[in-house]
Amino acid sequence: MQLNKATHLACPLDGLPLALDERQWRCANGHSFDIARQGYVNLLPVQNKKSREPGDSSAMVEARRRFLDAGFYLPIAEQLKALALHCLPGADVCVLDAGCGEGYYLDQISQALIESGHDATLIGLDIAKPAIIAAARRNKHITWLVASNNNPAVLPATVDMILCMFGFPVYPAFARILKPGGRLLLVDAGPEHLLELREVIYPEVRKSPPSALDKALEMGFELIDSQALHYRTNELNQTQIADLLVMTPHLYRASHAGKEAAAQLERIHLTVDVVFRVLEKKS
Ligand SMILES: C[S@@+](CC[C@H](N)C(=O)[O-])C[C@H]1O[C@@H](n2cnc3c(N)ncnc32)[C@H](O)[C@@H]1O
Ligand SMILES: [Zn+2]
Repeated sequence: MQLNKATHLACPLDGLPLALDERQWRCANGHSFDIARQGYVNLLPVQNKKSREPGDSSAMVEARRRFLDAGFYLPIAEQLKALALHCLPGADVCVLDAGCGEGYYLDQISQALIESGHDATLIGLDIAKPAIIAAARRNKHITWLVASNNNPAVLPATVDMILCMFGFPVYPAFARILKPGGRLLLVDAGPEHLLELREVIYPEVRKSPPSALDKALEMGFELIDSQALHYRTNELNQTQIADLLVMTPHLYRASHAGKEAAAQLERIHLTVDVVFRVLEKKS
């Protein structure tokens, strides 16, 4: 079994196939993209950037890396691996993690695929350069791209499975790059996710379900499986609580008072409530 680097990347400017020429990816129209010293390639055209540094900042990336490496979300990774292995076809597969952050989950999947004897091409993309630099440090056998879910920079109908974990799915783009019958695995917060922390930082807690799938269904996806994961974490200390706040949207949403209340917490056990949904792209 082996992990292959991607060979089916698409030019983000015109969609043409990219070919590898030494340390550069080039299309037939002469657009070229350097492979960075850390091993990733930036396929996010400057004109498509909505801000100078889109996506998560270095501080957010580092907080997420520390929190995930401490193992609090390991049961999420375990369930993800089991589900991915169950859903993937034959031996030679392409998996793309759309909004991969610092690569924790795709790295876990790569280990599961190696152990199960698959040949695989794994692509992780994120709009945040600091996230991709951290990901490239984590696993050198995966193809890491700075790119956007709006324009994932791989050729149409080449991907067997897309992961979108706590992220921002763009269904038309995902439908374009998946093979017919390909799978989209969405992982999102359930109604009770991190409830104890939310009760500290918000005056009133809304237990909302994960977002509806209407747009996915309109794009020809069909929901074929849905699973929940519910558990309580080990105790988080003050630093880990701070890391968790930095890596979640609560950092932006919470009031000053809410953040102060969280900063006063010395320890907490948290509920993890996560929903896994598998969608299939109809042929
Ligand atoms: C909540 S984080 C989740 C990261 C990772 N999937 C995980 O669960 O650890 C959301 C990620 O989406 C990235 N992101 C935001 N907008 C994006 C876009 N349009 N395309 C690709 N990635 C995006 C952010 O930079 C961030 O790394
Ligand atoms: Zn081009």
